[in-house]
Amino acid sequence: MSAESVKAESTEFTNPNLEVLYSEQQIRERIREIGDQITTDHRGRELVLVGVLKGSCVFLADLMRAIDLEMTIDFMAVSSYKDGTVSTGDVEILKDLSNSIRGKDVVVVEDIVDTGLTLSRLLEILGSRGARSIKLASFLDKPEPRIKKELKIDYTGFVVPNKFLVGYGLDAAGRYRNLPFIAVVRDPSAA
Ligand code: IMP
Ligand code: MG
Repeated sequence: MSAESVKAESTEFTNPNLEVLYSEQQIRERIREIGDQITTDHRGRELVLVGVLKGSCVFLADLMRAIDLEMTIDFMAVSSYKDGTVSTGDVEILKDLSNSIRGKDVVVVEDIVDTGLTLSRLLEILGSRGARSIKLASFLDKPEPRIKKELKIDYTGFVVPNKFLVGYGLDAAGRYRNLPFIAVVRDPSAA
């Protein structure tokens, strides 16, 4: 097949610049396990899942349907201040929670924890609001660039290598969030 015809036939889901790391099937099985774990840990509690926009939206949508409890959801949007490409750890709240978390058991839902700077600041902010407990569920854990070593991830989908990943909510300049799998971008300059 010529390069031209490969290009003509490739779609966003079959983009040759993407190498699948976790398939839809693998993700589905793992989410079911995490959902069971969260269900067991929060029986009889007032559970609220807090999604961190935008990256967590796909994980949150699947995860909540794997939790067999009475529960609610809420969202926050934060922007991390970056000094060039390096996160400084300061976060600005762009959208705050709609409801109080006082007395509730909160599970913060993230797409990926990298340096951990954004999440540890966010947990600090939420920590002053009187929740009964605050836990962290991150679909991916990329431990190698971690700066906040003390950050505890209570529920993790997969521990991943220090590569730039897209799909299942994760983006590169806004693109690829809709991929139903997690992929490595082979050539970031062509992404
Ligand atoms: P950090 O833990 O403060 O460094 O920031 C984590 C955030 O960086 C995540 O919520 C993502 O938005 C973004 N991020 C980190 N690694 C990746 C990646 O491999 N692909 C896409 N976004 C990433
Ligand atoms: Mg994010």
